[in-house]
Amino acid sequence: MEQQFNFNNELSGKIALVTGGTKGAGRAIAERLLQAGATVIITARNAPEEGNNNLYFIASDLSKAEDSQKVISEVLSTYGRLDILVNNLGSSVTPAGGFVALSDEDWESTLQANLLAPVRLDRGFLPQMIERKSGVIIHIASIQGKLPLYDSTLPYAASKAALINYSKSLSNEVTPKGVRVLTVSPGWINTTASKAWLGEIARNANSTVEEAQQGVMNALGGIPFGRPAESEEVAELVGFLVSPRANYLTGTNFVIDGGTVPTVS
Ligand SMILES: NC(=O)c1ccc[n+]([C@@H]2O[C@H](COP(=O)([O-])OP(=O)(O)OC[C@H]3O[C@@H](n4cnc5c(N)ncnc54)[C@H](OP(=O)(O)O)[C@@H]3O)[C@@H](O)[C@H]2O)c1
Repeated sequence: MEQQFNFNNELSGKIALVTGGTKGAGRAIAERLLQAGATVIITARNAPEEGNNNLYFIASDLSKAEDSQKVISEVLSTYGRLDILVNNLGSSVTPAGGFVALSDEDWESTLQANLLAPVRLDRGFLPQMIERKSGVIIHIASIQGKLPLYDSTLPYAASKAALINYSKSLSNEVTPKGVRVLTVSPGWINTTASKAWLGEIARNANSTVEEAQQGVMNALGGIPFGRPAESEEVAELVGFLVSPRANYLTGTNFVIDGGTVPTVS
């Protein structure tokens, strides 16, 4: 089969939405899709600290159903359609301390942000994708969805496991209707928040940031690559997956973890 690819402008004319696109991996994904020529809309509760006038920002708390509906209505009324949906928003703000420290509210807020926000957005945007027999949906999960870690928060890991399972089921349903659905499961990512967190660990332990990083990697069972991922590396994978170069990929969970997960699947 002969196929021509334009790597620099391959998303030209596409409308993309990246949730949680103001910081960390989401911001890098938004910038990557923009570079590939897409029109990119980002959402978060707070406006981005660093401006990029080419990213269209919609303020919303997607853990609330009414805000999800606001985003769906605003995108469809302004742009007429959505081609690429990257459900990147993820949140783990529940307290440490194991099962006993976690209230119903902790469980509900984590499930709202990590599972129900993508479910609602998918439900809102899928009809017009199915009608056009075209579209790509990405769910950003985590290796914790399949590798619960000691001392990790239970609702976060459980919500990502549910997201991975839901993503596969949705793919089974809508791939025959022309929409690809994929999951990306990162291991540790070196975001601004991660850097601040490492600095705090180092200060508290009176150690260097390098020693703090090694301590976190040890707790993960080691990262064969020797460091966390950069947000741009996760963004590069997503940029590929939403592109026409990945046309046959659907229903798969792509792990990007520098080799962290110690098993073969
Ligand atoms: N960082 C890691 O090591 C790591 C590892 C594995 C998987 N992941 C996954 O990768 C994705 C990105 O993580 P990250 O670490 O890059 O995120 P991050 O730096 O913490 O950024 C989170 C983004 O989501 C927004 N957000 C948070 N709660 C929200 C809500 N209720 N409604 C709307 N927006 C909300 C934030 O902005 P506001 O606060 O202004 O709303 C921000 O834009 C997540 O799904 C995460 O679970 C991360």
